[in-house]
Amino acid sequence: MWKSLFGGLVVLLAVYLALFGRKKQYNPDDVKGLRVVVTGGSSGIGEQIAYKFASMGAKLHVSARRESKLIDVTAHAKDVGAQEAHYFVASLSSYINASLLIQDAMQKLGGIDVLILNHFTSPYVGFYRHEAKDIEQLFMTNMLTHAHLASAAMETLKENKGRIAATSSAVAFFGSPYTIPYTTTKCALVGFFQSLDHELTINKTDVSVSLVHLGYIGTKSSSVIQDKIKHKPASKVECAAEMVRGIMMREREVYFPASVSWVPLFQALFPDYISNQVQQTYRDNAFS
Ligand SMILES: NC(=O)c1ccc[n+]([C@@H]2O[C@H](COP(=O)([O-])OP(=O)(O)OC[C@H]3O[C@@H](n4cnc5c(N)ncnc54)[C@H](OP(=O)(O)O)[C@@H]3O)[C@@H](O)[C@H]2O)c1
Repeated sequence: MWKSLFGGLVVLLAVYLALFGRKKQYNPDDVKGLRVVVTGGSSGIGEQIAYKFASMGAKLHVSARRESKLIDVTAHAKDVGAQEAHYFVASLSSYINASLLIQDAMQKLGGIDVLILNHFTSPYVGFYRHEAKDIEQLFMTNMLTHAHLASAAMETLKENKGRIAATSSAVAFFGSPYTIPYTTTKCALVGFFQSLDHELTINKTDVSVSLVHLGYIGTKSSSVIQDKIKHKPASKVECAAEMVRGIMMREREVYFPASVSWVPLFQALFPDYISNQVQQTYRDNAFS
């Protein structure tokens, strides 16, 4: 009975989305000259976000730990149309490095219009080892530096009616086996940026916050679970394009792939079904 009710709801939602679900589009001319800071810009989704903004004439500042990759990314960004492309090499595993990153961006760009907080450190994948330290070790890179970067850039973002985006994961909606430390940091990230958004709105700052909820996207870091998971990954290029659209439209919640946007509703209506789906995501004996 639940399955047919669920199926009916999916059909109804699909019809509704087909009729009314067209996403609002931005004017690419609005991107020209925007000063965009992308953390975790040396590979994967962050790299593609940089190219998307670059193709519309933005001024870029990308950061990560691997300088050789950042040199390539900034060169390609210029090739595809960036007005400027700068990089900053740092491990975002300390508040000091996060402060230095914002100082560097301010010095090179003269201000920040868009701050995209996208970096994360590769999580341990496997059964939870019942070591709270595994969670603690990820918190600085995956959550606390995001909060610190947003604070350090707040003055310039307020001056410029700026945009903040933070990359989260669908696992923050429903929890996930085998990535408990990572999932915990993403839940905290969502709590922080949703709350920050409320305060910025109450204080009429004109700074928008976009929380990006991603499903499984094909990048090098996600390839570690490729043979353990039953689903196919979505395109990182399309993911970046949707993120840029959502950020430019100042949408509070951005989802990719689109199916992720249904998860909160289905979870509220059918929590057991969603739990079951989550537990069946991984192949049998993936980690035994
Ligand atoms: N791919 C997915 O399926 C998926 C799903 C949900 C959410 N997400 C989120 O999407 C974001 C991007 O992930 P991705 O899949 O594109 O992975 P990725 O290609 O591995 O990108 C991670 C980026 O973060 C940088 N980074 C890692 N550790 C760092 C550190 N300590 N300090 C500074 N930078 C660091 C990496 O560069 P360096 O190694 O050069 O430092 C890289 O540029 C992450 O927030 C992730 O949680 C991804």
